[in-house]
Amino acid sequence: MSYDKTNHNYRELITGVDTKIPLKNGKLVTAINFDNAATTPPFNYVMEKVVSFSPYYSSIHRGTGFKSTLSSEIYETSRQLICNFVHCDSEKNTVIYVKNTTEAINKLSYIFNYLYKDAVILATRMEHHSNDLPWRNKFKVDYLEVDETGKLIISDLRRKLEKHDGKVKLVCVTGASNVTGYKNPIYKIAKIAHNYGSEILVDGAQLVPHYPIYMKQNYEEESIDYLAFSAHKMYAPFGIGVLIGPKETFCSVSPEYSGGGTIKLVTDNSVIWNDPPEKNEAGTPNVLGVIALTAAIEMLNKLGIKNIDKSEMKIYNYALNKITSLPNITLYCDPNPNCDKVAILPFNIKGLYHGITAKLLSDLSGISVRSGCFCAQPYVQRLLRLSRKDITYLKHNYNDISHPGLVRLSFGLYNTYSEVDILIDTLRKIIKNKT
Ligand code: ALA
Repeated sequence: MSYDKTNHNYRELITGVDTKIPLKNGKLVTAINFDNAATTPPFNYVMEKVVSFSPYYSSIHRGTGFKSTLSSEIYETSRQLICNFVHCDSEKNTVIYVKNTTEAINKLSYIFNYLYKDAVILATRMEHHSNDLPWRNKFKVDYLEVDETGKLIISDLRRKLEKHDGKVKLVCVTGASNVTGYKNPIYKIAKIAHNYGSEILVDGAQLVPHYPIYMKQNYEEESIDYLAFSAHKMYAPFGIGVLIGPKETFCSVSPEYSGGGTIKLVTDNSVIWNDPPEKNEAGTPNVLGVIALTAAIEMLNKLGIKNIDKSEMKIYNYALNKITSLPNITLYCDPNPNCDKVAILPFNIKGLYHGITAKLLSDLSGISVRSGCFCAQPYVQRLLRLSRKDITYLKHNYNDISHPGLVRLSFGLYNTYSEVDILIDTLRKIIKNKT
């Protein structure tokens, strides 16, 4: 159990791991969080940095006083740290701060809509809604299909690129699924997309906190053009996210939000836009969010993302092994322990509604999980093998019926074997009482 010790060391870094919460029967227990794919608790270091910076907090890009200058300087220099973290070329790319991954992808979709009116966008059936819906209302969107285990069918990529004959301008793919945890071969996808004249966007929300990403590759055609991710999934709340992409893309287009900070000059009847990223960050920037994110990155770098991945996957495999030994469990991902993924485990107890399993875990043992479709309904419909008829029924009755879905365990660097043991004991009780 030496890794348990490692994770206990990680636990000391996290705010709230010892918080007591009441069970349904009123007993107080230590909260267990297996819902890290939705949001992670903060690092203590992040909270300390935010508090210690707050006496200096002031307006960014809008004042000449000491505090304002300091705030602006910290905000601007942070962009290089972000570039280094995801290994991108800071000369070529711009780092735009946004609220979260959803805002980042919506922003990019506006820019692409302006640049390429008649383009086809290629997404995948694995995407979370935020990397699907922003494209649907602006473009013709086609999708790479998934196989029966929910993995991307990569051969479909070439087929679809050929079918659209040079019209695909962007391939949008998640780095890791928020439902099954599968990692996608993003550098291989980039190479194929580039060969057909398309760029690639990686939704990094579930990958960046758990696994290293190298936007710039030795072979240029394998490099990632655009990357989006959210700080609240990487131990840094305070409402910040990142969109990275080539400066060139953002230079030529008016911003989708305009206002303070976006301009060089405004006259009664003309506007000269600022350069990116300022042009794409309308309104007063979120410097506390940036302080939090950069502190989280410092900590992740110190711990080493590869170590974090190893440690999370040990816990994942421990849970996988235990959960598959329980009766009446259906898993919705490849149970091979060598499967290339991040630490996410979707399942159901046969015959028990996902929402009830989730509620019982909380009521009986103070365990937080997420249940349902995880903002990825088309993907979950496939994992559940819903028929066309089932989906038509769902469409006509969505207000009146219980929606199909799954229970999801998603692990963070601070989760432990003993927490998994509590989970397994509780599941065993739930299964026993059901039969
Ligand atoms: N952030 C959402 C999740 O829980 C989509 O995966």
